Amino acid sequence: MLPFMHMLRRAGLVKRILATRRQYSSRFGYEHSRCLVFSNFGQPEKVLKLHSYSIPPPYDDIINVRFIASPINPADINQIEGVYPEKPEFTLGLGTGEKSAVPGNEGLVEIVSCGSRVNPSIRPGQWAIMSGPNFGTWRTYAQAKESNLIIIPDREGISPLQAATVSVNPSTAYCMLKYFAGLGSGDYFIQNAANSGVGRSAIQIGRLWGFKSINIVRDRPDIDRLKEELRLLGGTEVITETEAKDRRYMAKITEGRSIKLALNCVGGESATNLARILGHNGHLITYGAMSKSPFSVPASALIFKNIHCHGFWISAWSKRNEAAKSQMIRDILSWVRDGEFTDIPYEITKWSGDTELETLMEPVKRGISEYSGRKGIFLMDED
Ligand SMILES: NC(=O)c1ccc[n+]([C@@H]2O[C@H](COP(=O)([O-])OP(=O)(O)OC[C@H]3O[C@@H](n4cnc5c(N)ncnc54)[C@H](OP(=O)(O)O)[C@@H]3O)[C@@H](O)[C@H]2O)c1
Repeated sequence: MLPFMHMLRRAGLVKRILATRRQYSSRFGYEHSRCLVFSNFGQPEKVLKLHSYSIPPPYDDIINVRFIASPINPADINQIEGVYPEKPEFTLGLGTGEKSAVPGNEGLVEIVSCGSRVNPSIRPGQWAIMSGPNFGTWRTYAQAKESNLIIIPDREGISPLQAATVSVNPSTAYCMLKYFAGLGSGDYFIQNAANSGVGRSAIQIGRLWGFKSINIVRDRPDIDRLKEELRLLGGTEVITETEAKDRRYMAKITEGRSIKLALNCVGGESATNLARILGHNGHLITYGAMSKSPFSVPASALIFKNIHCHGFWISAWSKRNEAAKSQMIRDILSWVRDGEFTDIPYEITKWSGDTELETLMEPVKRGISEYSGRKGIFLMDED
């Protein structure tokens, strides 16, 4: 045996066999997953814990995936708090003492290995995003089924952060602009929280489809910089909430234009004001409630202008429109690839094998407090 090993070593083969074995055990053997978990709803800093568990090799229709990037969206925080209508499934399957769930709804994964009955078009190395909510994306590895994933067919020219954030914010903006008011080239829409992830996406998609936009943001010390930034994205007008409430100022901005669509992320007075600004037969779509305040719609806007009020929720729309969702993701990624759709500003938190709970909690806490101007996102190291 020894002379045989000696011969192999001399030929450099032992190193190669060991390297192949290491690859075998990480690609096809057990994966070690680290995740954030919670067992009760509550404030994230009180209920989230860091947990590790092993993932066995895939069998049948199971696919083992490695997370590359997972965003931290306002809805993820609301879900942990228990105030979001979609609730995750609490399970003992993660090996925690009490039933628990992994937070996070959006994310980008790499296919690591596939069970024997998985569709052969799905192959290790491909990228995929989650097909729907509630997967639990704040972790490093997981097991999925084909129905949980939308494969990204061509990742050339797309960064992991762009792919990881495509299915919530840009998709919401895309649907609201496309499906409600029948906007055509040159038509105007108006929106509040225009500097949000959804707002920035709406500006850019609107520009690509030939729509004009009036973009409202909250006042701040560096307002001129923000106004310029949003104009460069394609915003036609960028104004503050104070300016939007000034009727004379708004009369000048909207002179000769009928605003057909308003996108409401805020609620409260800001939303009431959108209803006032909307033109005849306009549509007010509420998709967020950042101020946490209800809003009233002036009776005159309903009676004399016949405005229509709707809500939009991307989770519900995605469940009913699988084929349209895949097409929408392809459209948005093709704009990204062509350099026509710019990233939202990100705040990256690196997640490697030894990252502590405190580090992972920083972007989560920022997501609850004042908006930092950047989308928090976990970027996982390959270990
Ligand atoms: N319905 C759906 O399908 C859907 C899909 C995606 C997102 N959403 C919702 O849309 C909202 C925005 O999400 P996002 O990911 O785009 O958020 P984001 O990028 O984190 O931006 C948050 C925005 O909210 C504004 N904001 C924060 N607190 C506010 C307050 N108290 N009053 C007024 N404005 C406030 C911020 O303005 P400042 O810069 O002035 O702080 C910023 O423009 C969230 O409520 C989210 O849940 C809904």
